[in-house]
Amino acid sequence: MRLKISQLGKHYGDAAVFSNVSLDVAPGEFVAIVGESGVGKSTLLNCMAGLDSWDEGTVVLNGADLGTLNDDQRALLRRRQVGFVFQAFHVLPHLDVAQNVALPLLLLDEPDDARVEALLEAVGLKGLGHRLPQQLSGGQLQRVAIARALVHRPGLLLADEPTGNLDPTTAAKVMDALVAQTREQGASMVLVTHSVAAAARADRVLHLTAQGICP
Ligand SMILES: Nc1ncnc2c1ncn2[C@@H]1O[C@H](COP(=O)(O)OP(=O)(O)OP(=O)(O)O)[C@@H](O)[C@H]1O
Ligand SMILES: [Mg+2]
Repeated sequence: MRLKISQLGKHYGDAAVFSNVSLDVAPGEFVAIVGESGVGKSTLLNCMAGLDSWDEGTVVLNGADLGTLNDDQRALLRRRQVGFVFQAFHVLPHLDVAQNVALPLLLLDEPDDARVEALLEAVGLKGLGHRLPQQLSGGQLQRVAIARALVHRPGLLLADEPTGNLDPTTAAKVMDALVAQTREQGASMVLVTHSVAAAARADRVLHLTAQGICP
């Protein structure tokens, strides 16, 4: 999936979060975005998914200009084409692990238990499908979030600090699962991270500042 952002700018009142952000992610490419806390990385990622709004510029996903779509159209495009790994997991506490992972498929009305099992195995959670989230460790929960983001084979995976709260060994395992699954599906990925080790795995690293984004 191709993601093309041109001259994107966002502000709250008089305060600019970022401006002049242009970037192109090719199909299958893995781009890492780094930058100081508060510079707007999460905001930018949310704009890429059409979950937040911007004030200047365009976000185009596979030829679809998100700025021209209404909320329903954006939601449909996201449901089919985008996987999102949130920093805070956002795993639903009352659903078991397998049900959490199956959620994107249910929203598409395409349930597929075998696919859910395969994803759980791929991220190292085989046999844990019937556990509730509260019965998992932080690293395991993050892998549930990764499995859920990839289960419907999105063309674009957006991941916000997926290893932020993990010890280095667990972080490496989570990154292994994330990169392997994304590559296997040929999906594009944008990863926001403070981790040098995680960014080093990307095809390209971009630095976000208040002035724009650059290598
Ligand atoms: N509703 C709001 N009103 C005003 N400013 C806001 C609002 N929401 C976010 N901001 C500001 O926007 C900026 C960007 O926030 P964002 O969460 O995108 O940063 P970040 O780069 O992801 O930081 P971190 O690395 O700490 O996660 C911050 O300076 C924040 O204070
Ligand atoms: Mg952030």
